[in-house]
Amino acid sequence: MPLSTAAFQNYRLLMLSLASPAKINLFLRIISRRTDGYHDLASLFQTIDLTDTIDFALQDKDELFCNDPTIPIDSSNLIIKAADLFRRKTGLKFGLKVRLHKKIPHQAGLGGGSSNAATTLWAFNQLTGHPATLEELKLWSSEIGSDIPFFLSGGTAYCTGRGEMMRELSPLPSRKMWIVKPKQGLSTPAIYKHLDLNKLIKRDPIDHLQRFIAGDWQCFNDLEQPAFDLMPDLVLIKKALLDSGFNTVLMTGSGSAFFCLGEASPPSLPNTTTYSVNFCHRAANTWY
Ligand code: C5P
Repeated sequence: MPLSTAAFQNYRLLMLSLASPAKINLFLRIISRRTDGYHDLASLFQTIDLTDTIDFALQDKDELFCNDPTIPIDSSNLIIKAADLFRRKTGLKFGLKVRLHKKIPHQAGLGGGSSNAATTLWAFNQLTGHPATLEELKLWSSEIGSDIPFFLSGGTAYCTGRGEMMRELSPLPSRKMWIVKPKQGLSTPAIYKHLDLNKLIKRDPIDHLQRFIAGDWQCFNDLEQPAFDLMPDLVLIKKALLDSGFNTVLMTGSGSAFFCLGEASPPSLPNTTTYSVNFCHRAANTWY
């Protein structure tokens, strides 16, 4: 469905600059290994105000620039995959010029790539006059990553299946917290491969969700132990953070970043980067 030349000229004058937030998993329960190579999980996801900034404009072909030279800017980047997906589903032919200012550390379990993909779908839809509904964007996005639909929610959601099935929740009360990211990152497939399902405590995720909603926060992450097995230094980092007075120190997603809750301040640890963050949310029809 190519647009007329006049319409294209109008659209391409527009530029959007959007924040692309990170997430944490307040709890993450892995249920079972599936035959398609994924795992069924149950997790409470929450967006936080540690954000990348992405500028978008329409042009003839895709072009991606990034301030971080370690980030691939070719078709393996989820921004380009999201642009391809949007064109495939809508039939539109536009390309996207994208400037990505990266602040969310990668291989951290903070969902930076998935967030960038969701932000791209939202931006592309805005720039082209809303050819898709939000529900369509959520549905389509799961084809390129399990966590991407979550970033199209309001910012708090209970996710099941591969992570793509969402029950959206009212915002949780905001909590100031710290993110501590060890220099070394972790690969998501490697962590899942290393997971021993027989060693997991069979917690009831619905029970945990209800407790969270009632204000009784019991954070846990079934992927923490396999991460500790693969990177034993993480155990020392977690201990140092707990010793400094935090009530809760937990790895997020498949790591290697931790979130820390409580009144303490993180100690200065070698080879780690620390971020002070809050929860954030998205109001209906607006971006973060
Ligand atoms: O869906 P996504 O591309 O983010 O997943 C990356 C990898 O993480 C998958 O290829 C798989 O190895 C692992 N994964 C999993 N179960 C999930 C989500 C991810 O095993 N629910």
